Amino acid sequence: MKVSYRSFTCSQGDIKVIYLFEDNLTFSKEEVNKHIVLANGRNLFNGKKGDLYTFTLDVNETIQTIILLGLGKEEDLTVDTIRKVTAKAIRKANELKVSTVFLRLPKTEVLQIEEMVKNATIAAQLAGYKFDRYKTNSKEENDLTVSIARCGLKEATPEIVSAIEEGNEVAKGIILARDLVNEPANVLYPETLAEEAVKAGKQNGFEVEVHGVEKIKELKMEAFYSVAKASEKEPKLIVMRYFGNPEQKGEILGLVGKGLTYDSGGYSIKPTSGMVDMKSDMGGAASVIGAMSIIANRQLKVNVVAVVAACENMISGGAYKPGDIIGSMAGKTIEIRNTDAEGRLTLVDAVNYVIEKENANEVIDLATLTGAALVALGDTTTAVVTNNDKFYGELKEASAYTGEKFWQLPSFDEYKEMVKSEIADLNNSPGRNAGTITAGLFIGEFVQNKPWLHLDIAGTAWADKKTDLTVKGGTGAPVHTLYELVKRRSK
Ligand code: BES
Ligand code: MN
Ligand code: ZN
Repeated sequence: MKVSYRSFTCSQGDIKVIYLFEDNLTFSKEEVNKHIVLANGRNLFNGKKGDLYTFTLDVNETIQTIILLGLGKEEDLTVDTIRKVTAKAIRKANELKVSTVFLRLPKTEVLQIEEMVKNATIAAQLAGYKFDRYKTNSKEENDLTVSIARCGLKEATPEIVSAIEEGNEVAKGIILARDLVNEPANVLYPETLAEEAVKAGKQNGFEVEVHGVEKIKELKMEAFYSVAKASEKEPKLIVMRYFGNPEQKGEILGLVGKGLTYDSGGYSIKPTSGMVDMKSDMGGAASVIGAMSIIANRQLKVNVVAVVAACENMISGGAYKPGDIIGSMAGKTIEIRNTDAEGRLTLVDAVNYVIEKENANEVIDLATLTGAALVALGDTTTAVVTNNDKFYGELKEASAYTGEKFWQLPSFDEYKEMVKSEIADLNNSPGRNAGTITAGLFIGEFVQNKPWLHLDIAGTAWADKKTDLTVKGGTGAPVHTLYELVKRRSK
């Protein structure tokens, strides 16, 4: 989808989308105004947030389709509203199979034009997203061209051009994460996931190093390898480096994404219903690759190293078993009580690696880690466990902008006691109670008191049904927030 900024010259077949505030239902053109008044009179369009009303006009012997789009009250306008309503209009335009859409943004003091343009671009790209590459008779995609304009502002300023570029890149990163999550596990396994990371690195300007099983053993990543060893597919340790701030080369943010390209549960096997969507158990890895792509592409002035310990959790004669006691790169021993609590095992070695070998002094890990996160917060909100309120504050600020939701869970000492084992240092599965907290705090045992955020995206990385900006499948969460958090640090 191509998005650009230009002044209006609508022709036949094009759709014009007019954004309107509920407290100011007027438009500069008389014929349009007439329709607004009529529709409003019959309660068909009130300008409330998300209201959508379509009609056609007769212009110079041709038909012009107009979509009225409600923004709610002007004083309440946010970028979130711009994204949500724009997505609605784009879906409608795709339904109507037009080739060109003109988005006519409102004149307002509440939001900067660049902010509106950027978020309208993101929404347009995301609303057009589909994953249909495996449908042999998928219809030709409706290739929409989107033009953005605002009354009284004919020419795009350099800032507007840059806002559209940024919007496109953000959307690309999110879409990359969605695609990776949606690829089935027979296509996307550790090696091919690593290839995708290499490709993204080449395209966007970050370095990628991929290690195989030899190096994983040499690094003594026993926790990671224990999960990986039953699979026919070789595990890969994927390391992505971006150094955009050489003046402060000691400041390194570590990103760690859970990269289970498939999770059968292992000997603590999942029922089929729980296994069928487990190709998505690399949602953390996908989001890390998506976020790195945007960060590097926009050349942010920060240093970030992302690590993915990619593998499959399978069953074989060589698999790890409930009751095993294993080691880890950090030296701590772990009693395996459930082979389906595998994510934390791969993550602790990746976290230890990014701190010890890549010198990260802050860590964010993101993982589709526990079904309990879905039980606690549903599929709209990412669960957070952290040891640092300031770091959490940064996340909340970024998320207030991106609209992705996060909520912190407590990490009292009583919970920390639960991850201890009677016969080893730690226990990988203390049971159902407080499952999301104990999974997070298990990882917390390996962060060496560095500022750390653990994001359990089991609920948010995958959508069971479509919402404003997503279709069923991978959502690309929380790519946008990761990018925004890092961008706010880039000076
Ligand atoms: N990948 C799953 C968590 C998951 C479940 C993600 C549903 C998305 C949707 C994880 O590896 C897992 O199996 N967790 C167990 C942990 C338990 C054994 C302590 C769970 O949540 O049941
Ligand atoms: Mn599991
Ligand atoms: Zn898993």
